[in-house]
Amino acid sequence: MRLFLALLFLPLTLTAQQHPHQYIQPTDPLVRQNLDEWRDLKFGLLMHWGTYSQWGIVESWSLCPEDEGWCERRGPFAADWYGYKKAYENLQTSFRPTRFNPEKWAAAAQAAGMRYVVFTTKHHDGFCMFDSKQTDYKITDPKCPFSKSPRADVTREIFNAFREKKFKVGAYFSKPDWHSPDFWWPYFPPKDRNISYDLNKYPERYQAFKDFTFRQLEELCTNYGRLDLLWLDGAWVRPANTIDRNESWQRGIPDGQDLDMPKIAAMARQKQPGILIVDRWVPGEYENYLTPEQGIPPTPLGVPWETCMTMGGSWSYVFEENYKSPHQLIHTLCQVVSKGGNLLLNIAPGPDGEWHPEAYERLQAIGAWMAVNSEAIYGTDTPASGLFQRDKFVFTQKGEILYAIYLADEQETKMPGQIRLTGLALSSTARVELLGVETKISQKMEGGDLLLQLPESIQQNPPCGYAWVFKIQQ
Ligand code: GLC
Repeated sequence: MRLFLALLFLPLTLTAQQHPHQYIQPTDPLVRQNLDEWRDLKFGLLMHWGTYSQWGIVESWSLCPEDEGWCERRGPFAADWYGYKKAYENLQTSFRPTRFNPEKWAAAAQAAGMRYVVFTTKHHDGFCMFDSKQTDYKITDPKCPFSKSPRADVTREIFNAFREKKFKVGAYFSKPDWHSPDFWWPYFPPKDRNISYDLNKYPERYQAFKDFTFRQLEELCTNYGRLDLLWLDGAWVRPANTIDRNESWQRGIPDGQDLDMPKIAAMARQKQPGILIVDRWVPGEYENYLTPEQGIPPTPLGVPWETCMTMGGSWSYVFEENYKSPHQLIHTLCQVVSKGGNLLLNIAPGPDGEWHPEAYERLQAIGAWMAVNSEAIYGTDTPASGLFQRDKFVFTQKGEILYAIYLADEQETKMPGQIRLTGLALSSTARVELLGVETKISQKMEGGDLLLQLPESIQQNPPCGYAWVFKIQQ
């Protein structure tokens, strides 16, 4: 079953967004420094949160009139697109997340070992989770009950709470905006995710959209303290020369449906020196790292990258979420890091402003594992030898130190008595320890293999669950 799902996933999620051969190294020294620092963090939190959480539906997409599974409308308003859009947008008038407490999230994320956060300041539906002066479709507008709260500007509150914990802070921002009349001009009903009018006939309308977007990004870069990264989603807003019409989702993109990225980047970097710009899935100089989604590339990409992945099954809040097991989450982190990437794990807050209790439980389990093993994660890279995976092991490297991470099977709670590491080309003087254990481990070389012998006491009482890390000093 799992294999089947993985196969289904691959063509959709991985191939389209991976273009390491087109990666352009940033030249700005501050951007490079920020990128190096970011690469060392390895583990971040993504949050998708908006008024849609009240219905427990997919973020934004049910507004999009495309015949795709994830755009399906449900509920009493489903039959009529106009009525549905109205009801959806009316969710602004009932959004009241009274349990909102970003300090609690930041503490839980920090204890799990996360070191950066990316938050949906605006998703495709156009609803601003920040106090934009460019629209009244926002959480701080009087129409929204939560506007009365002193913490109504949730973007500011989240950024401050995580910054307090020394996180790098990133703004997810959707380039398309399905609320803006300059994107979906109500005069012409939209047919798909793209603008609803002829850009060549109405260039001033599209220019107005560009200006509006620029000003919103300027607000985020000006009024919200230090920002470390801009995560720009909605890759169908892209320059004509980057459109690949072999990709089905890119076929309907009109030429000219782009933003002025050089202008945006210049503004952003003037306000926020060194800020990373992730114009995701748009190859070129504004994609400072690649962002495969919901999957792990089969091999290291050789350029900076991050897998974004849901902790449960969806990006947005659903009433009954089916969270991945700690086993799966920890293995995912190890596999991503062994290939030189970062993991950006998504948790969705609910309409009351809280996470499901299971999300905290998962973070706790990851934190317990990280407390023993984080040195094999932070600041590491995929091994220079190219050996990132063999048998049940994945490998990371930090300077001269190699970390061999044994990914235990789901039922495997007792460690094996004997472990053989093949193909490492180690010197005979290499020293091995098991992270979290004081006892010396007996080791010997056998025809180029490293053989480890674990005493019964350690086998019975491993230092942690899920994955065991051998630190090898050459
Ligand atoms: C997918 C979803 C989008 C979400 C994004 C996060 O592309 O369609 O809604 O924001 O994943 O990576």
